[in-house]
Amino acid sequence: MHLLTVVGARPQFIKLAPFSAEARRRGHRETIVHTGQHYDEGMSGRFFAELGIPLPDVNLEVGSGGHGSMTARALEGIEAEIVRRQPDVVVVFGDTNSTLAGALAAAKLGVRSAHVEAGLRSFDRSMPEEVNRIVADHCCDLLLSPNETGRRNLAAEGLEARTVLTGDIMVDALYDARDRARPAVEVLAGLGLPAEPYCLLTVHRAANADDPARLRAILAGLTGAGLVVFPVHPRTRGAMAANGISLPANVHGLEPLGYLDTVALAGGARAVVTDSGGLQKEAYLLERPCVTLRENTEWPETLELGWNVLVGAGTEAIRAAIAHPPRGATHPPVYGDGHAAGRILAAIEAMG
Ligand code: UD1
Repeated sequence: MHLLTVVGARPQFIKLAPFSAEARRRGHRETIVHTGQHYDEGMSGRFFAELGIPLPDVNLEVGSGGHGSMTARALEGIEAEIVRRQPDVVVVFGDTNSTLAGALAAAKLGVRSAHVEAGLRSFDRSMPEEVNRIVADHCCDLLLSPNETGRRNLAAEGLEARTVLTGDIMVDALYDARDRARPAVEVLAGLGLPAEPYCLLTVHRAANADDPARLRAILAGLTGAGLVVFPVHPRTRGAMAANGISLPANVHGLEPLGYLDTVALAGGARAVVTDSGGLQKEAYLLERPCVTLRENTEWPETLELGWNVLVGAGTEAIRAAIAHPPRGATHPPVYGDGHAAGRILAAIEAMG
């Protein structure tokens, strides 16, 4: 089959890696369309090299901007590529503006489409990602759900007939990275940081990064946490500069990290403190406590099993959670076995 994959932002490159390797192994032809939503070397280029993904066939260079204009530029570019390249199936990943654009472009052209990581819901429509995943799920012909929660969410929206439960492709990516990553102490040493207990911090969600009061409250919650390693997303770096926000002395701000080093540092952390979707689940898979800087999560299993706690941007709640990081009594494989890519490709092949 000829598969046209659409990616644009950092977490999608990670999901594409196992998908693309499995597609090649099964003899499919793949055209990779990069929307260019993320464009810095540290946010994009390095992931293709590090994860062994073929270079994109085209980069639409949509860059940043308002959500509407960014999505519109991607939509226009993806439509032209689908018309030009005539794929059998368009495949989109996750919940970014690039996902939405790819799903819409395929639906408008009547080309079959598949959504990898379908069915996740935070039930918070103020998140751009929530709108993106709802629309993508309703546009796509095949919904590849990472877990039982996703399958149930899709059934509740009347989408059960299009759903296949595959396990989570990020588990495939994570297990591969964990096997290849350097030890955390080496990563710390390379960054000039001491080999002492640390928390790994990431903050990039619009709700936190673009609200100076929330960002200040979060950083205040990190004082007294000992060493905090903080790879800073460009959105957050820009917001800090614009609002004159500086880091507490114990928080070490870094450039964005590659995937292998991120996995290494998450795996060695005393706690992962984050507003990322993916990192909450990665913390669980690496059996590390997670403190989530949001009011909701797409991964309720991590809460129910006691490995994650939602603290929003509450300074005291963050301090308390870091002082006593959540550790569950059990650690069942709720996200699958790390062989999702094979099931995803099999489901796409079954579309005929
Ligand atoms: C996007 C996704 C989010 C995903 C995240 C991972 C949407 C709505 N959000 O959020 O789901 O978790 O990516 O990182 O699609 N920027 C750079 N260089 C880059 C990329 C971005 O400087 O390479 C700056 C841009 O100026 C932009 C800002 O970061 O204004 C935010 O980028 P954007 O793509 O809007 O959203 P993310 O916050 O990265």
